[in-house]
Formats: sequence, structure tokens, C-alpha cells
Amino acid sequence: MQALELLTKRSSMPRLQGPAPSSEQLQLMFRAAARAPDHMQLMPYRFIVFAEHQLAELGQLFAMAATQQQLTAQEIARAQDLPLRAPLVIVSIACYQEHDKVPPWEQLASAACATGLLQQAAFAQGLGAIWRTGWLTDSEALRQQLGLASNEAIIGFIYVGTAAVNTPIKPDKDYSGKVLYWG
Ligand SMILES: Cc1cc2nc3c(=O)[nH]c(=O)nc-3n(C[C@H](O)[C@H](O)[C@H](O)COP(=O)(O)O)c2cc1C
Repeated sequence: MQALELLTKRSSMPRLQGPAPSSEQLQLMFRAAARAPDHMQLMPYRFIVFAEHQLAELGQLFAMAATQQQLTAQEIARAQDLPLRAPLVIVSIACYQEHDKVPPWEQLASAACATGLLQQAAFAQGLGAIWRTGWLTDSEALRQQLGLASNEAIIGFIYVGTAAVNTPIKPDKDYSGKVLYWG
């Protein structure tokens, strides 16, 4: 895929199926993520990969978080099934470091860019992917189960796989009101 086609056409794909990305495809995604703009080269992010055979385990963790949150039995069952919407799920984590020149918001911006690039690199390789969040990102129970430190935050669950239908490419947004040419 041409770079400009990627940059102007990237679209999310919620309907995913196997096959999951190969390890080579995943490596390219992480290489792309590590190209994110990064003030002082802190790499303020990390990723946890749940492969297909580990998705049931992730579902158990989601269900545990839902139980902790005192959700209904129906909501707990739904939480358990959430990871099964793709053959691979990547948990994207922002890792804040004490730094006199790089405040937390800059580190979050860098981690978000890395996550966006991860998705773009999936799209560039013909994969489908979608960035999801929801209440689970703030679940203390899930944070603990995933081994997050107090300076870390879940910023997304990236569902990746093969598009079950052709990825609908959304039309360009009208950005004209978002840009001011000064003077
Ligand atoms: C930080 C963040 C969190 C998101 N969380 C969700 C989510 O929980 N569920 C969802 O359906 N879409 C979520 N989205 C939106 C999708 O990832 C996607 O961007 C949206 O469906 C628009 O599609 P597009 O990326 O093709 O423009 C989130 C996006 C971002 C940036």
C-alpha cells in the first residue's frame, strides 16, 4: 500500500476473524508504533499481546473485573465474551515517567500516537483492526491482573485480525473548519 493511500484511507474494522496476524506482521506493527513522536526518547508505552489461545483467559480477566465492579450476571457474561471479537487483542499501555522536560500529557500523546501507528501498520498490511476502550480501561481489578504499575494506564484494547467483510473506507471528513491559514 502506498504511504499516502494509507494515511488518507485508514479505517477501523470492528468485524474481525482469523487468521490472526503472523508474528512477522506483528513485528512490523510494533516497529511502526516505536516510530511515534517521542520527546526525549522515553518510549512511554508498552503492549501486552493476547494470542488466540489466550483470549479465553483475557475474557476471564474481563469477567473478574466486571464482578469486582458489581455488574449484573448478564454484563459479566458479556464482558467475558468481549475478547472473542478478534483473533488477537493487544492491550496498549501508557507508561508515565518522572521527567523534568516531558510532562505526563506529552507522554500520553506519544503513547496514543504509538497506538495509532500500530493500527495503521495493521491496515497497511491488509489486516483489520479497531481501537476500543470502555469501562475496562479504568478497572483497578484488571490493572492488577495485567500487572500494571501505579504509573501506568490502559489506553486501549486493539482488536486485530482479518476483516470479515471488506473494510468500508469512510469518506474524507470535511476538515476545512479545522484549519486556519494565518494572515
Ligand atoms: C481512545 C479511543 C477509544 C475508542 N474506544 C472505542 C470503543 O470503546 N468502542 C468503539 O466502538 N470505538 C471506539 N473508538 C473508535 C474506533 O476506534 C474508531 O476510531 C471509530 O469507530 C471510527 O472509525 P475510523 O477509525 O474508521 O474512523 C475509540 C477510539 C479511540 C481513539
